[in-house]
Amino acid sequence: MKKPKIVVVGSINIDLVVKSYKFPLPGETVIGNAMQTFPGGKGANQAVAASRLGADVQMVGCVGDDVFGEDLIGNLKTNRVGTDFVRKIKDKSSGIAMIIVSENGQNSIVLAPGANMMVNKELVEKAENVIKNSDALIVQFEIPLDVVFYTIDMAKTFKKKIFLNPAPAQKIPDAILKKVDYIIPNETEATIITGIQVKDLNTAQRAASNLINRGSKSVILTLGENGCLLVSEKEMIHLSAFSINVVDTTSAGDAFVSAFAVGILRNFTEKRAAEYANIAGALASTKLGAQSSLPTRKDIEMFLKNI
Ligand code: RIB
Repeated sequence: MKKPKIVVVGSINIDLVVKSYKFPLPGETVIGNAMQTFPGGKGANQAVAASRLGADVQMVGCVGDDVFGEDLIGNLKTNRVGTDFVRKIKDKSSGIAMIIVSENGQNSIVLAPGANMMVNKELVEKAENVIKNSDALIVQFEIPLDVVFYTIDMAKTFKKKIFLNPAPAQKIPDAILKKVDYIIPNETEATIITGIQVKDLNTAQRAASNLINRGSKSVILTLGENGCLLVSEKEMIHLSAFSINVVDTTSAGDAFVSAFAVGILRNFTEKRAAEYANIAGALASTKLGAQSSLPTRKDIEMFLKNI
């Protein structure tokens, strides 16, 4: 079977993770477990996730010339992600995400973007040929927004499928929504982007319809333990989540985005791709850490055999 070719333009971070029995309140100090480090960053997570699911992936991004930069590039290589367009930026630190994971596996993240903010149009232009020769582009919002929009414009010119994970949330011009094939926000992001507070299925449907009315072709709204909502002009399908033992939901959304993209590029129907993505997201929640928890194609096949 031909491997789907995907280019990910986005962030590469080192995640500093502490598991804590609760999130601290403002002014409060909480004693957590030992700090652990994991390779992360929404862009790199999505690149590694797609590669583990059998895609041929190229990463476009930046790391710092600090102790983490070389390891982060090495980790992408270990996961068979192409790094020809990953730059190490002099006198910059790598992106660092401070992550608290609560007892029930929810996370809270503060990101110091560092070198991620050095991803620019020139770097994307250098990657023009790989974008031209790919099947799809996956982007998020942890690099400068104008660069994300520039990359979307370029991929659209080459008629590539475009998957946008608008995280962390930013306002998106309708002209960009119209160019994207699949927009995949979570509840918080959908709330910020549409101004509609997503708190249940009904409000999720309203937020997704808002995006469709503004020009989105397909919206896949991830709803955590409530599964996901797939909405296009023609249909609205709600898929329930799988019941799993949640350890850490960090990168569940990233696993979802890439599994959905890989499914679509393998000619799955949108519903089947969303089901596949739902499993990938669930499996990524069963282990601590971002890339350490991303499932392989085999993991998903095993899961499907056992349900
Ligand atoms: O989506 C999870 C990711 O968000 C983490 O790996 C962290 O680096 C932040 O970018």
